[in-house]
Amino acid sequence: MRKNVVVIEGDGVGPEVIKQAIKALNSIGKKFFHNFIYQKLLAGSKAIETLGNPMPKETIDSCLKSDAVLFGAIGNSKYEHYPIGMRPEDGLLKLRKKMELYCNIRPIITYPKINKLFLKKQQLDNINFLIFRELTGGIYFGKKGRSKNGKAAYDCCVYSRKEIQRIGKMAFQSALSRKKKITLVDKSNVLETSRLWREVIKEMASDYPDVLLEFLYIDNAAMQIIMNPKKFDIILTDNMFGDILSDEASVLTGSLGLLPSASIGKKKSLFEPVHGSYPQAEGKNIANPLGCILSASMMLEHFGMYKEKIFLEEAVKSSIKEKICTPDIISNSSVKTEDVGDYIEKYIKNH
Ligand code: IPM
Ligand code: MG
Repeated sequence: MRKNVVVIEGDGVGPEVIKQAIKALNSIGKKFFHNFIYQKLLAGSKAIETLGNPMPKETIDSCLKSDAVLFGAIGNSKYEHYPIGMRPEDGLLKLRKKMELYCNIRPIITYPKINKLFLKKQQLDNINFLIFRELTGGIYFGKKGRSKNGKAAYDCCVYSRKEIQRIGKMAFQSALSRKKKITLVDKSNVLETSRLWREVIKEMASDYPDVLLEFLYIDNAAMQIIMNPKKFDIILTDNMFGDILSDEASVLTGSLGLLPSASIGKKKSLFEPVHGSYPQAEGKNIANPLGCILSASMMLEHFGMYKEKIFLEEAVKSSIKEKICTPDIISNSSVKTEDVGDYIEKYIKNH
């Protein structure tokens, strides 16, 4: 197969982790006779510096024409005082909106041999759940502003039935091929949007009689994720709660650097690690590339390349088993970002 992939390296460690993901993809391409064609485009700080806009139109147009987008990271505190719409993060939000990436899937999977937590080993073994985070609505995109004298501020949270239904459908369909259990996380004891979420998802559940639907308030869910993580199979939640829960859940895996994500859109989809730009590590060759490499594997699945996806994941598992890990996973490790990428590239070639 031939696939056109738009690559946005972005800020911070973005270029370093993307480089490893491309090495892995090319290795998969060689082995399975696929041709991945990359088109690199600007977004974030570099786009602000060269084009005066964190998400240039050319980048958005190319994303919409591609077969998929592989995204590194965006974010740079140097621009945090810039006006709304001009900061790197605004560029990412704009792209999510323009591509209508309404369904963000973040798998939380633990790998043997990594345990940096106070939890007992058996509580961490075999954790495997997905967070389905709504990505183009809610408080992120509602009306926001200041009062006339600037002494008060507001961010409105708005959801429509349609917005809830389309991600709800994705979650129910995914549940059918897993343990058939969805936990809707909300704050319906306080928020009206949460009450609408419950109403709509309950209605939809009648079309999926085999799927067990459970409800949890966000505060309780935040606790259960740490205390009882194996109770989850699919967590379905809104934009803001999903943002917070996914960083929290990453702790279970040992490192935020391991977490991939897929943002499924109406027409096109985007794949990015959850970790963000991690500016402290920029240029040091120490960032964990596995989140980005696993995002590439989610892209392979999206292309219907199932064997290829499994193969790439085997390579990742092997790198962890062999302790070819960056310092976020094994403290004091001298293994570099490049070394992990090299190992995975070779594993694919030689197996
Ligand atoms: C994420 C990030 C973004 C978000 C930021 C960079 C705007 O934290 O993808 O989780 O809040 O959605
Ligand atoms: Mg986040």
